[in-house]
Amino acid sequence: MYPAGTLRIDELPPDERAVYATLKPEHLPEHVAIIMDGNGRWAGRRFLKRFQGHLEGAKSVQLVTETASRIGLPWLTLYAFSLENNLRRPRAEVSFLMRLLRSYLESNLQRMMDNNVRMRYIGRTHDLPPEVQEKMLWAEEATARNTGTTLTLALNYGARTELVDAFRALAAEMKQKHIGPEQIGEQDIYRHLYTAHMPDPDLLIRTSGEMRLSNFLLWQIAYTEIFVTERLWPDFRGTHLLEAIAAFQQRERRYGGLGEGCGEVEEDPERIRIAAG
Ligand code: FPP
Repeated sequence: MYPAGTLRIDELPPDERAVYATLKPEHLPEHVAIIMDGNGRWAGRRFLKRFQGHLEGAKSVQLVTETASRIGLPWLTLYAFSLENNLRRPRAEVSFLMRLLRSYLESNLQRMMDNNVRMRYIGRTHDLPPEVQEKMLWAEEATARNTGTTLTLALNYGARTELVDAFRALAAEMKQKHIGPEQIGEQDIYRHLYTAHMPDPDLLIRTSGEMRLSNFLLWQIAYTEIFVTERLWPDFRGTHLLEAIAAFQQRERRYGGLGEGCGEVEEDPERIRIAAG
């Protein structure tokens, strides 16, 4: 077993190792979140059925997770199934995705163990079919003692619903502990999010070129760097994860402060007369 963050760079395939060599290992993100999009288009371009796109997408999930674990990425969060997917997609596609998830968990468990990956989930998972929940719990328990990358699958997830769930839990706590609204701060909301146990994402990747957040982790991505690629999810591999990390390392994160090259700071801004009009 590998302790958290242990590198297994020697296990990267040569193309991934070449991109990894361009990275600054001391500035790797701690948490990468991915909106996996484009399975349907990938299939459509090949005159295949949509479900074949999802099947290929599941292979990308495993390969990208393995790259993440080899470079010692602590947190990888994948948007696998949204509340809106559940409500708005044809029943046949939803039930295919549910079967795919079950079979994915079953057939990839050994690879997760070999890669020291821990499985977690976020979302209203209690509304998923019982047999899916059973398999999810089985995989979570089997991998619970792994210490490498935590792979979190967002399933039946919506960020606004997450906030509703958080506010409900917070309101109940406030009532029980007789806490007034003026005593509530950001940390109290954070504590009740599904993601309370993990850091906010440093990098959000979206495949297939859409410039949307699609109700994903809206609270958590306040200062996250966003990387959008035209590549469709079934074509996305570990090497593309590493390229996204390379682009992330070129960014200057300011968190609302000033960065380099922002001009000289005036010593006494009070002395500057503002001429309006
Ligand atoms: C978006 O493609 C993808 C999804 C709605 C589901 C994501 C599912 C997978 C990647 C496969 C299964 C995952 C696991 C964890 C086993 P889309 O269908 O919206 O593509 P389109 O926008 O091109 O139609």
